[in-house]
Amino acid sequence: MATNRTFTMVKPDAVEANNIGNILAKINEAGFRIVAMKYTRLSAEQAGKFYEVHSERPFYGELVEYMSSGPIVAAILEKDNAVADFRTLIGATDPAEAAEGTIRALYAESKAKNAVHGSDSDENAEIEGNFFFSQVERP
Ligand code: CMP
Repeated sequence: MATNRTFTMVKPDAVEANNIGNILAKINEAGFRIVAMKYTRLSAEQAGKFYEVHSERPFYGELVEYMSSGPIVAAILEKDNAVADFRTLIGATDPAEAAEGTIRALYAESKAKNAVHGSDSDENAEIEGNFFFSQVERP
């Protein structure tokens, strides 16, 4: 059964470009409620662990280096059909292919520096939220 939560990160490129506020506004306007949020920075080891599923991909090293290059904002979001609706809101991984008006079309720099992360399944939303937030931090 689908849960109503997903997990997101505002990535280092979007934090550096001062787009945290713009991105959170788009998230709220789309009907998502923020249930947990933190501004933090991942070590290379933590970024490597978070993206472990991609460890065999050719871009893994670049991804880990980039995701630990500066601060990020991590959040758990709530809405009906959260995982699928959030992926629609952020658009395709590559901003050149992202639909007009999506967060990546508006704010992403490239396929690697793509402004935001969104969980790809209910199971991963749970795992990723638990990676950043303790039980008392996610009411
Ligand atoms: P994300 O949704 O966070 O999940 C995996 C990330 O890997 C993805 O966003 C991109 O930031 C990154 N990624 C995916 N494909 C590539 C690629 N071909 N080159 C570099 N980075 C990529």
